[in-house]
Amino acid sequence: MILVTGGAGFIGANFVLDWLALSEESLVNLDKLTYAGNRENLAALTDDPRHVFVHGDIGDSALTNRLLAQYQPRAIINFAAESHVDRSIHGPEDFIQTNIVGTFHLLESIRGYWSSLQGEARDGFRFLHVSTDEVYGSLAREEPAFSETHRYEPNSPYSASKAASDHLVRAYHHTYGLPVLTTNCSNNYGPYHFPEKLIPLMIVNALAGKPLPVYGDGQQIRDWLYVKDHCSAIRRVLEAGRPGETYNVGGWNEKPNLDIVRTVCTLLDELRPRADGKPYCEQIAYVTDRPGHDRRYAIDARKIERELGWKPAETFATGIRKTVQWYLDNQAWVGNVQSGAYRDWVEKNYGERQG
Ligand code: NAD
Ligand code: DAU
Repeated sequence: MILVTGGAGFIGANFVLDWLALSEESLVNLDKLTYAGNRENLAALTDDPRHVFVHGDIGDSALTNRLLAQYQPRAIINFAAESHVDRSIHGPEDFIQTNIVGTFHLLESIRGYWSSLQGEARDGFRFLHVSTDEVYGSLAREEPAFSETHRYEPNSPYSASKAASDHLVRAYHHTYGLPVLTTNCSNNYGPYHFPEKLIPLMIVNALAGKPLPVYGDGQQIRDWLYVKDHCSAIRRVLEAGRPGETYNVGGWNEKPNLDIVRTVCTLLDELRPRADGKPYCEQIAYVTDRPGHDRRYAIDARKIERELGWKPAETFATGIRKTVQWYLDNQAWVGNVQSGAYRDWVEKNYGERQG
């Protein structure tokens, strides 16, 4: 079996659902269930004996040692992290604790477990660390996309904490020979995306008749990838990636934020027109920019395509349509995640921004 951490969050849950739809191999899912972790994402697996959910922290060595000894996974995929840049600006400590200290404790447990393995079990074992393109910093408009050899230049507490975790993972390979793989992916979107992030926030605010808050001039560029394509890339790297290597994952799909927001609005105009017949774009509101806001990310995904034959299946047009439709079809899920804690966050992040 395999062990996944953070499998109740956005990407992790999509990965777990896809894994169990595509393979017979069981999966242990270790998740702390922070505000971003949601067991409802995994509701389809309630009666599936191949899915073992464990509520716990990657930083709890006693727990991870016990899980490793009990389940003897052939591979571990680490999705667990604090993931939202704006939250890292308001309060970096949780990011240091989970993304750096938690990853360190997890690596130590895995090192102990892997050292005890022999023969094929030891040779075939893999630890795959899921990371981000944000570790590379910000690109100017004319600069080439991030390759795997681009220097690390993280700019937010979030990206700095992810960069630190990537370095630890690299060091455990270099020093101890641990068979690690690292993926650095661009912005994901799709089902189960928590509505603190740009695309789901715009969909739920639009439908609720609320302002669509665009930071600064809205011309920051992100490289968007449908989440299920990220999951297929991770499966491929796990299957055929070379230990010690990193693989950049992206959709060759750079777009300014304002274009993204306008696309969401246009799709909603078609799929769920406003009662007053006016376009959703009228709800766009420019607000104070994110401090230290990275201007542009872009992924050069040629290595994973060349070496492992991976390419995304969705275009942005197909992926964003599926995504908007998913939110329209899953209003109950949206309602459930918009708890009191969610409302507190919205007030904290947007209350002080000037319109
Ligand atoms: P998310 O915030 O939606 O989910 C994170 C999950 O990790 C949650 O289920 C949470 O409960 C769990 N978790 C947090 N701290 C934990 C801890 N200490 N122990 C165990 N579980 C813990 O995040 P996401 O968007 O799904 O991102 C998953 C991973 O992919 C992260 O490592 C992130 O850095 C990376 N990533 C995300 C994107 C993106 O666009 N969302 C892009 C590239 C890489
Ligand atoms: O690039 C990969 C990263 O993508 C991941 O590592 C992170 O975990 C993930 O959260 C995401 O980070 P971003 O900061 O790019 O995503 P976010 O959805 O928060 O913002 C996308 C862009 O939209 C960014 O330029 C900020 C802007 N934005 C965001 C919000 C929430 C707005 O203009 N208004 C908003 O309300």
